[in-house]
Amino acid sequence: MDSTRAEAKARAQELRQLLQKASYAYYALDNPILEDAVYDQLYQTLLALETQYPDLVTPDSPTRRVGERPATQFTSVEHRIPLYSLENAFTLEEICRWQARWQRQQVVAETESYVCELKIDGSALALTYEHGFLVRGVTRGDGLTGEDITPNVRTIRSIPLRLNLADPLAVVEVRGEAFLPLAVFEQINQGRQQAGESLFANPRNAAAGTLRQLDARIVARRRLDFFAYTLHLPEDLGELQPPQTQWQCLDLLQQLGFRVNPNRQQCPTLAVVQDYYNHWSTARFDLPYLTDGVVVKLDSLARQAQLGFTQKFPRWAIAWKYPAQEAITQVENISVNVGRTGALTPVAELAPVQLAGTTVSRATLHNRDRLEDLDIHLGDTVVLRKAGEIIPEVLRVLPELRPPTALRYQIPHHCPECHQPVVQLPGEAVTRCVNISCPAILRGALGHWVSRDAVDIDGLGEKLIRQLVEQGLVDSVADLYDLGKEQLLKLERMGQKLAAKIVDAIADSCTQPWPRVLYGLGIRNVGKVNAQTLSEVFPSVGQLAQADVSEIGAIYGIGPEIAESVSQWFQIPANQQLIERLQTAGLQLATTQVPKGEQPLAGKTFVITGTLTTLKRDQAKTLIQAAGGKVTEAVNKNTDYLVTGASAGSKLDKAKALEISLLSETQLLALLPSELLE
Ligand code: IVH
Repeated sequence: MDSTRAEAKARAQELRQLLQKASYAYYALDNPILEDAVYDQLYQTLLALETQYPDLVTPDSPTRRVGERPATQFTSVEHRIPLYSLENAFTLEEICRWQARWQRQQVVAETESYVCELKIDGSALALTYEHGFLVRGVTRGDGLTGEDITPNVRTIRSIPLRLNLADPLAVVEVRGEAFLPLAVFEQINQGRQQAGESLFANPRNAAAGTLRQLDARIVARRRLDFFAYTLHLPEDLGELQPPQTQWQCLDLLQQLGFRVNPNRQQCPTLAVVQDYYNHWSTARFDLPYLTDGVVVKLDSLARQAQLGFTQKFPRWAIAWKYPAQEAITQVENISVNVGRTGALTPVAELAPVQLAGTTVSRATLHNRDRLEDLDIHLGDTVVLRKAGEIIPEVLRVLPELRPPTALRYQIPHHCPECHQPVVQLPGEAVTRCVNISCPAILRGALGHWVSRDAVDIDGLGEKLIRQLVEQGLVDSVADLYDLGKEQLLKLERMGQKLAAKIVDAIADSCTQPWPRVLYGLGIRNVGKVNAQTLSEVFPSVGQLAQADVSEIGAIYGIGPEIAESVSQWFQIPANQQLIERLQTAGLQLATTQVPKGEQPLAGKTFVITGTLTTLKRDQAKTLIQAAGGKVTEAVNKNTDYLVTGASAGSKLDKAKALEISLLSETQLLALLPSELLE
């Protein structure tokens, strides 16, 4: 081996070890040791070395998580040990009955302790490690046979490609739940809506759908996550101490490199189990993923072995589910909403019904595909579902209760707003109005432009926008900047004061930075995150407008589809005119260097929880960042302050446990430099 190759080999090994250690600290311990940018840099260095010397690549290299070519189909694999399901309970009585049942079978009467875990609402996976390396990832399937989805499983960052064991074991099997964090789920659905694709009904379906994607590169982009909960070890454990309890198994899983849910608890009695269940029945809504109950397991592995399984379930575990967040009501009408992209969204108008604490009288039916799946008729009785912060949806129709004369609903052939024919592109679930003068599209574009994350014009609500459009005062976003007080005064319920306030707010929007303006333009597929990324690479509108598709598509995080819509948008003459007019109006179409002011929070990490009184969460975040601080989602050892508002949940508990300083909103404001608050 020549010296440069030998050096490359040693360096690659070092880099791999460091990156693996950093991933473990990040995903399994929730305690990062490297800044994201440093990780990315080291990763790129390793990738470059491996590209130069492809034979140096090892199967556990972090670079091997992506880039598999699409599979044509998955193969079925029989599970070595079946994947059992869990018996469900909904009340404490049912839990007590379960206890009585296993106690009857107890050989020696002794007290038994439990482990409570959150029941993660995702898709079960069985992972096989041979001699320390991940060799197979299989879906649950029917519990006996699943599908081999190894390339997809390899893309999940919280699943180690190699176990953290000095002395590798022959075969280790790990089970757990793959899931989509709520934020990722929302992002995916937003992207799908913008692309005119059908929406995933909930994060569980989205996770299952993603796992069964044939193209692992798409899976990699979807950012699935995984919590491990079951460990099957071989008989020969070498140096390793055999675990005696589920609690020890969970710790061992974490040591092996897995992410294990931190909200587990050992409970000596059913009363403590009940406290755990009660606590999480509300605290779960603060979690960034969905959980639909608590899994109660007997802690002792010896007792588990004694009790064994029924046909379907372990006798030593039970799922204590949260009350279903479902309700039944009737569809009184179906209306159609036309959005800013021209997409027609059918909306069910419902007989009002109480659901998970709110009254629901409308629910989206998404698009034509969803309508067809539901086979919805006017007058149908439907099951509604609302889980956590997810908007209510029509889960299914009860055709047995359908009135005999009920008519099947079909999406209209003409736009309900401008009465022009609508189009349905092949392969798209979305029906669109493509009339650029459609008032609904214009209202949508204006609503988006003035929204909080775009140029944030306070006071221009839906009703005013409707009037501005109907009276022909505004034909495009740029017209807002020509509006004077006199014109506004012609609108209903408009006084001198309000008109002046709106004119000022419109003028103020000229100071909003370029990424927000770009987002506000409402280019298809350009959400907040993409607008930020694009504006960093193209600091002015001129540069972006002149960039070609391949240049835009080459940016990390921006795919060809986004590049295409950006490029097309700038080719349309009406859009070019709009940019010119916005420029004349004085909007920020380029990044200006803001002088760095006082940064008293430099080096400090903040987490925000609960509802603040005067600030919105985004505003608090921006202020902290402007003062030099960092804002993260999860509370961990690196958190310096937890800013708490009303109804703070589990983050507060965690911060107290870690003795992290707490700040009220007033205390936070006092820490900020006064120029930021002017
Ligand atoms: S234990 C034999 N623990 O819930 C042991 N399952 O409704 C069975 N699940 O199929 C599984 N979180 O996919 C266990 N902490 C947890 C879980 C969990 C989610 C899923 C699992 C199972 C389903 C049963």
